[in-house]
Amino acid sequence: MDKRLFFSATQRNKYSIGNVLERIIKKNGSILEIGSGSGEHGVAFQKRFPEIIWQTSDPYLIHRKSISSWIEYEALSKKMPQPLNLDVEKIPWKIPFQLANSLQGIVSINMIHVANWNCTIELFRESGKILKEGQFLILYGPFKIGNKHTSKSNCLFDSSLKMQNYLWGIRNLENVSDEAKKNGFFQEDIIDMPANNFSIIYRKTSY
Ligand SMILES: C[S@@+](CC[C@H](N)C(=O)[O-])C[C@H]1O[C@@H](n2cnc3c(N)ncnc32)[C@H](O)[C@@H]1O
Repeated sequence: MDKRLFFSATQRNKYSIGNVLERIIKKNGSILEIGSGSGEHGVAFQKRFPEIIWQTSDPYLIHRKSISSWIEYEALSKKMPQPLNLDVEKIPWKIPFQLANSLQGIVSINMIHVANWNCTIELFRESGKILKEGQFLILYGPFKIGNKHTSKSNCLFDSSLKMQNYLWGIRNLENVSDEAKKNGFFQEDIIDMPANNFSIIYRKTSY
């Protein structure tokens, strides 16, 4: 049965995020996506970067079913692995050996503001253990800079997130990058994206 979900923002941002990935990723190995949601990004990026293996993940079964449906719909079953059941807070992450061995980086799109702050902490802690020197962790989404919203619409969005769950909310970039630093990452680049979003590129150092 077709279990595909459709996230409108995902259809809007997949091209611009793909353009950022194009600058960063190498043409081999695997990428682990955390909080893949519907799976629309996963299949779009697997099609755009056929040389790599795009490994999706999500803790929610309804999302993993959607991801599997998208993989089947796009006839990518022979190329793309099935989504992992990965909750960033359930540590240590259980990463298949083959994935860990071929990983070139981790990507998480619109996840950390729709999850509690501990998810950001664990995202960097576990990624810091898995990734080697020179490998990347890319975050995409809205951020506060210097504790200030970058637009009125982000301020309203933040309030609506907090009404859904008081632990959610747009994160302050400096706090996020502090967590990165604690775990051996430096902030390599910050890229302005459409609709008041950013792509933040973190790179693992040798410590
Ligand atoms: C706003 S959706 C974004 C989905 C997708 N990345 C996109 O941009 O369309 C947030 C995603 O984060 C996932 N998520 C929430 N808490 C999580 C956690 N503790 N560990 C991993 N993913 C989580 C949700 O299941 C959901 O798929």
